[in-house]
Amino acid sequence: MNPTTTAAWRALASQSESIRASHLREVFAQDPSRAQRMAVKACGIYLDYSKNRISDEVLNQLVKLAEETGVPAHARKMFAGEKINNTEKRAVLHTALRNLGDTPVMVDGQNVIPAVREVRSRTNAFARRVRSGEWLGYTGQTITDVVNIGIGGSDLGPLMVVEALKPLADGPRLHFVSNVDSLHLNQTLKDLDPARTLFIVASKTFTTIETLTNARSARAWLLEAAQGDKSAIARHFVAVSTNKEKVSEFGIDLENMFGFWDWVGGRYSLWSSIGLPIAVALGPDGFEELLAGAYEMDQHFQNAPIRENLPYLLALLGVWYNNFLDAKSHVVAPYNQTLHRLPAFLQQLDMESNGKSVRADGEAVSYATGPVIWGEPGTNGQHAFFQLLHQGTSLIPVDFILALDQPGQIEPHRTSQIANCLAQASALMQGKTQAEVQAEMREKGVSEAQITELLTHREFSGNRPSNMMLLDDLSPRTLGALIALYEHKVFVQGVIWGLNSFDQWGVELGKQLATGIEQRLSTPNSAPGYDASTEALINYVKAAKR
Ligand code: F6P
Repeated sequence: MNPTTTAAWRALASQSESIRASHLREVFAQDPSRAQRMAVKACGIYLDYSKNRISDEVLNQLVKLAEETGVPAHARKMFAGEKINNTEKRAVLHTALRNLGDTPVMVDGQNVIPAVREVRSRTNAFARRVRSGEWLGYTGQTITDVVNIGIGGSDLGPLMVVEALKPLADGPRLHFVSNVDSLHLNQTLKDLDPARTLFIVASKTFTTIETLTNARSARAWLLEAAQGDKSAIARHFVAVSTNKEKVSEFGIDLENMFGFWDWVGGRYSLWSSIGLPIAVALGPDGFEELLAGAYEMDQHFQNAPIRENLPYLLALLGVWYNNFLDAKSHVVAPYNQTLHRLPAFLQQLDMESNGKSVRADGEAVSYATGPVIWGEPGTNGQHAFFQLLHQGTSLIPVDFILALDQPGQIEPHRTSQIANCLAQASALMQGKTQAEVQAEMREKGVSEAQITELLTHREFSGNRPSNMMLLDDLSPRTLGALIALYEHKVFVQGVIWGLNSFDQWGVELGKQLATGIEQRLSTPNSAPGYDASTEALINYVKAAKR
């Protein structure tokens, strides 16, 4: 539906006037209980959302907006396996992959849970064999390095999780190759021993050019070492895919293929056999814990009242800024270094899901949809782009994420990490008035002339919103919950905006053109067929190649 036709949307539009005129500093001064009231804890995650430019009335209307646009009903459909991905006529059931309950989940009249558990027990068994040294390479040696070759959802999810939980990893070393640039593969392989390296070729479709190009080169690297002995492939290549035919065509034994289903979207696939690298790095128990954390968040999302529901709250706040306060981007700032790929993972999750200007019903939208998601680990960002967050002309809400306990953390780093995170959120919200700047400079003995000169430069407007998410720890369970939290946030926003968050037609055109351009670049005297700028670039590249 069109959300702008709801009563809640109209009420929010009129409320935005007074919110624009208010300052969070004053709001806090007038309401001593705000920080306590606007905080929720669930699944090991404490969310303080008090530093947002909202009132209780705004929050009430946002809750109504979720209800009026039918989010709870749509969520029930998703969990029940209805084909809510209408343009691809598919169910959306990443939640079934981590469903630890007993209720069947039906797709086309079949309960999918037994198949999910059967594949997981195969991937877990395989991970155990690799980790224990039972799985041997073609020379009879154990595996020391595992290289995942995939891109997008077949890379970012497992990569982000393996990085995030690195302090807990106790299996073979994990590497991830995604970019078709040969240096990504070559730089990864240069220090590896082919006899002790296992490749996981991860591709839902098994037709993705980048992945297949990298996989072919990896196969050639192995075969060169194995002096062309093709039987080595079975010891060193496994596939994770939904496409048996293509896997077999590539030369990977179907015994070494771990499947999943069309109802698992690429960017939602880390819970499926795409998560094999996670099971290899952490062990199956670690992977199961990740699933358990996500399942816990699924329960919370389905059962907690909207006002105390973490995914709903994050989603509704995002809609508020995007549609009523003109915020066009959103920063994710994790303060734990091992979460360094979280912003990239969330970029795909959010922007590939909700970066759309046509609703599920095919009508063009007349309102903003998915924002630009970006970010970097916190303290690094402070010394780079945070200047713009504090004093720039755009309103950019920030998600601060900080896990309070992680193996390997030591003092004084830990306290400094926490202090920096809390300080940034406070600075964005409070700002610094001219009077405060003046008083501070006078106390330091700065001359009046200099104070006058620097006053406006050193002033901070404040009133810049953020969410603070404090995680009990950076364990597989809490990370699983955090990822599921963002998945459901994206879902709620997608429903409010009337989108189908589960297709990605916007990536097709580029793929199609790249195939043609590749041919044109490698075929001498091929006929021009592209726009004038692209033709000129093709000719420039061809001349440079020569
Ligand atoms: O190009 C985008 C995309 O289709 C993503 O949605 C997907 O995660 C990625 O490509 C990789 O696709 P595959 O797993 O089929 O190789």
